[in-house]
Amino acid sequence: MALAMTTLALYGAGGAALATSLVALRRRLELSRAKHRSLAGHARIARRLATFVPFYDYDAERFFCSDGAPAEVTASRRIGFERLSALYRSRFAETIRCTADAASGISDLQFTDAYRVPFQYSRYVRDHLPSAAFMQSSAGVTVTDLDGNRFYDLTGSYGVNVFGYDYYKEAIERGAARVRELGPVLGLYHPVIVENVALLKEISGLDEVSFHMSGTEAVMQAVRLARYHTRRSHLVRFCGAYHGWWGDVQPGIGNPLPARETFTLTDMSEESLRVLRTQHDVACVLVNPLQALHPNGSAPTDSALLDSSRRAHFDKEAYADWLKRLRAVCSEQNIVLIFDEVFVGFRLAKGGAQEYFGVRADLVTYGKTLGGGLPIGVVCGRADLMKRFRAERPADICFARGTFNSHPYVMAAMNEFLRHLQTPEAAALYRDLDPTWNKRAADLNNRLLEEALPVEVVNMSSIWTVCYTQPCRYNWMLQYYLRAEGLALSWIGTGRLIFSLNYTDSDFAAVAARFVAAAKAMQRDGWWWDNPALTNKSIKRAIVKETIARRLLPRRHQKHEPLARSK
Ligand SMILES: Cc1ncc(COP(=O)(O)O)c(C=O)c1O
Repeated sequence: MALAMTTLALYGAGGAALATSLVALRRRLELSRAKHRSLAGHARIARRLATFVPFYDYDAERFFCSDGAPAEVTASRRIGFERLSALYRSRFAETIRCTADAASGISDLQFTDAYRVPFQYSRYVRDHLPSAAFMQSSAGVTVTDLDGNRFYDLTGSYGVNVFGYDYYKEAIERGAARVRELGPVLGLYHPVIVENVALLKEISGLDEVSFHMSGTEAVMQAVRLARYHTRRSHLVRFCGAYHGWWGDVQPGIGNPLPARETFTLTDMSEESLRVLRTQHDVACVLVNPLQALHPNGSAPTDSALLDSSRRAHFDKEAYADWLKRLRAVCSEQNIVLIFDEVFVGFRLAKGGAQEYFGVRADLVTYGKTLGGGLPIGVVCGRADLMKRFRAERPADICFARGTFNSHPYVMAAMNEFLRHLQTPEAAALYRDLDPTWNKRAADLNNRLLEEALPVEVVNMSSIWTVCYTQPCRYNWMLQYYLRAEGLALSWIGTGRLIFSLNYTDSDFAAVAARFVAAAKAMQRDGWWWDNPALTNKSIKRAIVKETIARRLLPRRHQKHEPLARSK
């Protein structure tokens, strides 16, 4: 009898263990299925593969014919390149000199300089089209370099510049005047903060606010709060989305450590919703609404522009519908839904992405422009989620500080910004935002089409990306032609153009004319060589071959020997 009972118990335990393993296996499979097929969707594999990619670059000859272009095309490219190089050296002489002097001491500058274009071309480009990373003034929608050249600003200062540089200069000045008597006293508040909190609560529709020094820190705190209150470990982010450079939100290339408590799922996918329903360790879902422009794609940078497969397409309704379904699943599973509006907040609408897409989050992070031109990160959230301690467990706290949080000067500039948001002038700007920017993008695309140029722009309101309609290995050259025409781009090049909302129609017409002129010059110089055999696939294949060939070379040759023209 006892034996029979023991056997039964063992069977029972075995059965339960089997059932548990099957459930775990099913969850793993669901998780795998919810990963995006791209490398960006497989952070660990991407990180591992990245360590195998050897450095190689092209010599002065191969540089111009890496796509197998014939001699006459190559010659035309070379002449165009040399003309551009001479123009850069004369027109931007002082700015280039200053940049070169500073580069050895500024690691960020060395990094951005190395990654403006695909690495195979980078050294030759740096030698002949040196970067000019300094500016001395800004006015209206322009910035002026050390040589006195004025550029239309398409950098948007990483998205901070929503209302125009003159506006932020004034906001900083006026704000500073209001808090000057208190000065940089920290740990105690200037009364200006009271109105900031009230206005942020109203705008976000949430109960409480916390102040930080950057968007990255705001995201860190939002995730930490979600983990604290749900007592769960994992955060979910969507493939390609940027949320700052903190390790947990950057699980792939760029972070030396694996992010073990991060799931990267496919954006706008039923499989991902299934994972949220079945995984029990998900504390929060992070959404960067900018991904609506290129769901599952990483920030489009020209350093990855080796062919013309960059795609973007903005479908507001489809993304709003996705957010609604995501909202429902998060509510059902008690998962904290975080909108990371550090980039898009106050750019798409006064009430940010929540208002624009008609979906409410539990926590919202803001940053960039909200500081009125000064550094900032903010979390707004439901009262129960924002609490950093438990009354019934006094030692169980969720710690967050930051020496410069609520700095009086930042709070005052923010106050100027938030007050400006309440004005009829700001309301008018937001009213026609999308039609205005959609029309500008459509007009530019029509002109590009009329001129038979293989370039098009895709936009989400005032945030644009440039796509290329003909397979080509040299699209990244466009950023240099654009600069020559007086258009200032950020270091990621044509992947992201950000307009401030104070662009008038005539400002924009000037930008469009220069954009078309730049693309025409690039076409004349032969970079978009018309060859039916050249496809995005064939370009990718050629690059993989080059990489493998270089990898197979003995180590001592892998270093700095440029690839010569293929015979
Ligand atoms: C959506 C988003 N989140 C977070 C960050 C990080 O903000 P910061 O650069 O202020 O740390 C950024 C910056 O670009 C961002 O776009």
